[in-house]
Amino acid sequence: MNEKYTIRSERSDDHRAVENLIRESFWNVYRPGCSEHYVIHVLRDDPAFVKELDFVMEHDGKLIGQNIFMKTVINADDGRDVDVLTMGPICITPELKRKGYGRILLDYSLGKASELGFGAVLFEGNIGFYGKSGFDYASKFGIRYHDLPEDADSSFFLCKELIPGYLNDVTGVYQTPQGYYVDDADVEEFDKDFPPKEKLKLPGQIFG
Ligand SMILES: CC(C)(COP(=O)(O)OP(=O)(O)OC[C@H]1O[C@@H](n2cnc3c(N)ncnc32)[C@H](O)[C@@H]1OP(=O)(O)O)[C@@H](O)C(=O)NCCC(=O)NCCS
Repeated sequence: MNEKYTIRSERSDDHRAVENLIRESFWNVYRPGCSEHYVIHVLRDDPAFVKELDFVMEHDGKLIGQNIFMKTVINADDGRDVDVLTMGPICITPELKRKGYGRILLDYSLGKASELGFGAVLFEGNIGFYGKSGFDYASKFGIRYHDLPEDADSSFFLCKELIPGYLNDVTGVYQTPQGYYVDDADVEEFDKDFPPKEKLKLPGQIFG
């Protein structure tokens, strides 16, 4: 791996380039086309968006990655709302995937979240990638995914404590922040301002 990379906060003049990078990285990965470039566009204006944890990664002066975090809660079974973070979209440009940059960006941003005093991070992801940075199945912490039947596979739902023991006395239901739920028609409209790209149905996509 070429070591010439930097990680810095996203600036407002990065927004369009970051959205384009996300679009290139997520296109046809989880569904034909993608919505994540619109999702970040909406989330930046959401009160739950954590501006201090909005990072871009550059390599030889070129934008190659990004990651963001949002505040959310676990509705605990004892009635409390426990503050936690969720994360993403996170991406690395397709040309530089699987070269170690994603893990560096992930670990850096988790370190910064930890410095800010956040207790835990939960989201949907692949244990093959996130497990290497200390994530485990959220079910092992007694945290359930909202609206998921009890006998359903929840192995997509991951958790990492940033403060050891933060979730020791917590069981409950994690809530995805509302901002992630975008309207397909709004995505279509937003996407018209980007260069044309072909939507393809590919094996391995989770959403049809
Ligand atoms: C997911 C993503 C951010 C990972 O970044 P990356 O730079 O490709 O990953 P890294 O090279 O740092 O991988 C770190 C480790 O995780 C593993 N890994 C990476 N992606 C993986 C995947 N999709 N499935 C399983 N393991 C994976 C790698 O094998 C590597 O392990 P190693 O160090 O033992 O070889 C990047 O591939 C990406 O942008 N993908 C498209 C968008 C996306 O899916 N984002 C995440 C949504 S949850």
